[in-house]
Amino acid sequence: MDVKTLAEVAPRDRFTRVCALTGAGISVAAGLGTFRGPDGLWRLSPEMERAMHVQLLPGNVDALWSVWGGMYEKASRSGPTVAHRALADAGASVITQNVDELHQQAGSGNVVEIHGSAGRARCLDEAFCGWTGRADEVVRTDPPQCPQCGEPARPAVVLFGEMLDPDDLSTARDLAAECDLFLAVGTSGRVAPASWLAPTARAAGAYCVNVDLYPDGELDPAFHVRVVGDAQDVLTDWVR
Ligand code: APR
Repeated sequence: MDVKTLAEVAPRDRFTRVCALTGAGISVAAGLGTFRGPDGLWRLSPEMERAMHVQLLPGNVDALWSVWGGMYEKASRSGPTVAHRALADAGASVITQNVDELHQQAGSGNVVEIHGSAGRARCLDEAFCGWTGRADEVVRTDPPQCPQCGEPARPAVVLFGEMLDPDDLSTARDLAAECDLFLAVGTSGRVAPASWLAPTARAAGAYCVNVDLYPDGELDPAFHVRVVGDAQDVLTDWVR
């Protein structure tokens, strides 16, 4: 079932443990692109392909910095959107697939970045160096170098072919299983294991709502209802 507002199906005061799974759609208003869809980055930016696969390392480290580093710089300039702030105001736990750190900047205290963060970086030489830190600590050569050993450094985002952090995954699963309202906001739900969280929440008895501006096909059966609208409007209206 599709509805127009979140408030009509999930009044804010009826829930005490809200968990939001967010994707690229919540950051569109910050000037960042989505991956899929007609104007998705996958289609518009061939560089994107090089920046998504771990097996292309170390040859694609320049693409990692231009794509993910560029995305982070744009997000940092824009700052969090009213939708990020609404989730913070609602005290929601956030599991995000985004790497822009906008939820933390909006004040959300409990954020699980299951695809990592472009605000963090690490040394390519994980065996002998293993440095990790903030992206702005790397030596800005081309490609950027690890400040500890001088080897190339990379943004600490999870690429296709890499394992997600098991602790993050476990925390995300617990949050989905313990909430009473599960919101999937601005995500196509195409990528596992993030897409497994709604079924986890549903099985644990949460009311599950998908907030999506351009729904593509039938609603995933894990959700009770779908709100078709812009996350910026839907979430600010909900917390009002
Ligand atoms: N409000 C709500 N939803 C929106 C908005 C908006 N303003 N704008 C776009 N959307 C929706 C689209 O309808 C789509 O369903 O956001 C979703 C974006 O989907 P994707 O581009 O697939 O992004 P996402 O789900 O975050 O991708 C997951 O895939 O490429 C990998 O690692 C990458 O983290 C990413 C993962």
